[in-house]
Amino acid sequence: MEQKRRLRILSKTWETDDAATFTLEPADGLPLHYKPGQYLSLIFGTKNGEQRRAYSFSSCPGVDEHMAGTVKRVVNGEFSNQLLTHAIPGDLLDVAGPHGRFLLPDKQVNTIFYIVAGSGITPVISHLKTLLSGPENPLQTQKRLPQIVLYYANRDSGHTIFKAQLDRWIREFPGRFECLYFFSREKNADHALFRHLNNGLLEQLLATHFAGQPARKYRRDTFFYLCAPKAVMRMAEMTLRTLGFPEKNILKETFIPERHLPTREPDTGRTHAIVASKGNERIEFQTFEGETILNAALRQGIALPYSCKSGVCFSCLARCIQGEVDVVFSDFTRREGPGQMVNTCIGYAVTGQVELVYE
Ligand SMILES: Cc1cc2nc3c(=O)[nH]c(=O)nc-3n(C[C@H](O)[C@H](O)[C@H](O)COP(=O)(O)OP(=O)(O)OC[C@H]3O[C@@H](n4cnc5c(N)ncnc54)[C@H](O)[C@@H]3O)c2cc1C
Ligand code: FES
Repeated sequence: MEQKRRLRILSKTWETDDAATFTLEPADGLPLHYKPGQYLSLIFGTKNGEQRRAYSFSSCPGVDEHMAGTVKRVVNGEFSNQLLTHAIPGDLLDVAGPHGRFLLPDKQVNTIFYIVAGSGITPVISHLKTLLSGPENPLQTQKRLPQIVLYYANRDSGHTIFKAQLDRWIREFPGRFECLYFFSREKNADHALFRHLNNGLLEQLLATHFAGQPARKYRRDTFFYLCAPKAVMRMAEMTLRTLGFPEKNILKETFIPERHLPTREPDTGRTHAIVASKGNERIEFQTFEGETILNAALRQGIALPYSCKSGVCFSCLARCIQGEVDVVFSDFTRREGPGQMVNTCIGYAVTGQVELVYE
């Protein structure tokens, strides 16, 4: 049900001293289609079994000759360090995907705001390449191309991934592309504020951008993309919701897996029947009570798609068409039924039979 591919690393280019871009090509020579904002799940074999990490494309189809991903080092992080320290051109990587819903809008939009920190720029640079120079810009047919505003937080200029490219666009697209850096440890740089982005400041910046209060028509035609640490995303989302921007216009990508998920007590005496299908493929298996649907599948050697296993990346999403599933996040549980999407990695069957369709 899940398609795996093997990619060859073509080059490794350091963007900062703790982040590098890898260009990649499919080892089988067949194309791998993806959209700006999507990611691949890298699959690492370890002595404790398979481990996965998601990495967004920093390349853009039709603009870059080769697909690419940009990895930033996480202190004590197992696989970001392995990639940055040991991976070299010629190495092969096993991947699944592409996945992801952090996609450009497919409708009329006046302004797109990006609120980003650190490696959160990766999927955003792919969007920006499309919007500013891509042949596959879904908004190209609009009478007026959207204005793009990027708020990008980092320690300092030296740790700002893609700064040279962004500075070039600031010069090339005045009036269309606006970029404001937020530096916490630097006091002198162009297009920058030397403080953290908080709700008061965000409100002030938006009010200035819209020359006063955001008017209703701006609210409808403005999109926000957030890719930053949880606290910044929560602050931004609350501020935007308070200002009346609709939830459907606020898209979020979370990079940090949830480590404190509630678990349920497994009961091997009680089972649920699961039917999972994708296209013509159909698989039937059983879960124990208190076991996630994904873990039950993996335990039985059934390859369902996944990456983070913690409810943040959406690669395991399937539509429930029969039965009910509890989707258990760290702070709330949602009971989903027919027609609803469920994250199978944190989804527990509730009814005796559950039928899921992967799209
Ligand atoms: C949809 C998605 C897209 C992603 N795209 C990118 C990308 O383009 N570039 C990129 O560099 N990373 C990206 N990530 C993050 C990436 O998948 C890994 O989580 C990250 O590289 C850390 O893996 P690790 O094995 O080094 O750390 P681990 O060994 O898994 O973690 C070590 C510690 O660091 C914490 N941690 C894990 N990830 C992060 C993080 N991103 N920031 C801060 N702390 C963290 C963990 O909670 C843990 O405490 C993405 C994640 C998701 C879910
Ligand atoms: S595997 Fe990431 S949300 Fe389920």
